[in-house]
Amino acid sequence: METLRYDTCLDSVLGAIGNTPLVELSRLTRDVEGRILAKAEYLNPGFSKKDRIALQMIEEAEAEGKLKPGQTVVELTSGNTGTGLSIVCAVKGYPFVALMSRGNSTERARMMKALGAEVILIDQLPGSTPGQVSGGDLALVEEAARRITKERNAFRADQFQLPSSSRAHYLHTAPEILKQSNGKVDIYCDYVGTGSTFGGCAAAFKEHDPNILCYVVEPSGAAVLSGKPVTNPNHRIQGGGYSMTELSLLDKKYIDGYLQVTDEEAMNVARRLAKEEGIFAGFSSGANVAAALQLLKNGHQGKTIAVLLPDSGLKYLSTDLWE
Ligand SMILES: Cc1ncc(COP(=O)(O)O)c(C=O)c1O
Repeated sequence: METLRYDTCLDSVLGAIGNTPLVELSRLTRDVEGRILAKAEYLNPGFSKKDRIALQMIEEAEAEGKLKPGQTVVELTSGNTGTGLSIVCAVKGYPFVALMSRGNSTERARMMKALGAEVILIDQLPGSTPGQVSGGDLALVEEAARRITKERNAFRADQFQLPSSSRAHYLHTAPEILKQSNGKVDIYCDYVGTGSTFGGCAAAFKEHDPNILCYVVEPSGAAVLSGKPVTNPNHRIQGGGYSMTELSLLDKKYIDGYLQVTDEEAMNVARRLAKEEGIFAGFSSGANVAAALQLLKNGHQGKTIAVLLPDSGLKYLSTDLWE
């Protein structure tokens, strides 16, 4: 009998969020000792892992009475959370306003608009480069998000602050990985933006087995969480590396170590994922797999490493990731 990913008809596309495949990257690891298991989050309906937190944040707010029928939802986004929220709000009938830096790729704004969102683009700081969103650029988007939330009496689906954002990964992403790998994970490493994924997954992994090592992945030159000075705030790995030292969803007690990845490494591995594994994913997917390869080459030979592939390569067609 054939095994189907979904064996019943879904009530809405929200039922297709999560439960993504876990894929062993056997071609990329041909020349190293050890395994990389990659969670194909680009197969979510909005083509990223952020669909999960969008659903969790909205459903917990509904359950707690913090979000009323028809109330406007507001959030700042590098595009992926906004796409997830656009999908969830479209299905559930909430108007959604997405605030995004002009530095993020244009596909993202177009996709959110197509899904019915109102998209407000915020100019980058003078001297910033499109495609390279810094912490300073993000602070401008945060300021605008606060203002619009107040003006519209909206619910702020705050992915940096709401514990529900992390809970999506604690309750679902990591338990799915453990189930799909028969509990056989030695190491987890993850590129951090809000820290919601790392916080939720690391908590679940440590609960399952305190010996699972959890590494934070940062861009070289903007590795502030590991205490390094910022020399390259305008890195290319979109979705994270904002040079923010305080992330409320990132519980430091789960961090066993820090890894750094250069733009070139992330891009090179994203291209190898496409060409060798047939996996069309984005910059941060390249960063996560590049970090896992570093571990397998340096002291963690023979281990099984779990990573997420946070979003789709389709989100970067306008960039030089794909030549
Ligand atoms: C493509 C991509 N990768 C990685 C991240 C970082 O994930 P988190 O915010 O859970 O730390 C994000 C967050 O927006 C993202 O969009």
